[in-house]
Amino acid sequence: MPKHFRSLQEFTKLELLGLIGRAIELKKEKKVGKIHQQLMGKTIGLIFEKPSTRTRVSFEAAMYGLGGQVIFLSGRDTQLARSEPLKDMSRVMSRYVDGMVVRTFGQEVVEELAAYATVPVINALTDLHHPCQVLSDIMTVIEKKGPIEPLRIAWVGDGNNMANSWIQAAGILGFELTLACPQGYEPDQEILTESRKRASKPITLIEDPVAAVHGADVINVDVWASMGKEDEQEERLRVFSRFQLNRELLAKAPTDCVVLHCLPAHRGEEITDEVLESAQCIAFDQAENKMHIHKAILESLIG
Ligand code: CP
Ligand code: NVA
Repeated sequence: MPKHFRSLQEFTKLELLGLIGRAIELKKEKKVGKIHQQLMGKTIGLIFEKPSTRTRVSFEAAMYGLGGQVIFLSGRDTQLARSEPLKDMSRVMSRYVDGMVVRTFGQEVVEELAAYATVPVINALTDLHHPCQVLSDIMTVIEKKGPIEPLRIAWVGDGNNMANSWIQAAGILGFELTLACPQGYEPDQEILTESRKRASKPITLIEDPVAAVHGADVINVDVWASMGKEDEQEERLRVFSRFQLNRELLAKAPTDCVVLHCLPAHRGEEITDEVLESAQCIAFDQAENKMHIHKAILESLIG
């Protein structure tokens, strides 16, 4: 198992499926009231430079649920806000905690922290990746639909951090992925090229949301303007309008297709209230599974 969790790319299929399997086991054990203490005496630091509800709370709950401790640091309250070098921050934090969970803008921040850390660094979202989220999403799909390999997954909307992590997952795990993104909002080209080299099924990029959801077992949507892109909101509303997941678009997919949204959702933009609240949407199971996946990741990297 790699020391850090910077993106999905450094993991093998066996390692990712192992983490999901363990998360499913930990979820079952929690439901029957089993107490876990395997991280007793361990502490993680959460360094968050962007807002978060789910990721923060699910990492904290996961760590406490395994008997460990958490220190939360909002980016603006640390000396990073006053330009302390990341390499210093990383070496200092490594003396206090057993792992760092980082949410930030540039992927290079995670890379530099990892380069200088003597403890594991876990990516809790950057502009380029959201790897822990996609792992819990795949866990949710497996729970609802069985093994991921034969499934056809559709991505509709922005070629953002979530799309990039889904592309890496498709390359590693070997499922079919079709992304419909407007021109100018495609996923990262290098990630696409590298993942296609590893893939055993097609990873296809198109511009037509109807073609993407046709025959899909899973439809994935996310906000049109990610954190940090708020000033592009108006332009994006215009560009993305035909990419809304509404009743009409959902009707083009098989009736047993499930809808994923990592949340937070902007109802009336990327998804309608009706679709988000429908029985086909499993967004709240996804949200729950973040905690179980985070437990599996923490146990494996820090335990
Ligand atoms: N899905 C997700 O990462 O949500 P938060 O931004 O609330 O952590
Ligand atoms: N793409 C979104 C995901 C939020 C969890 C963002 O980066 O804001």
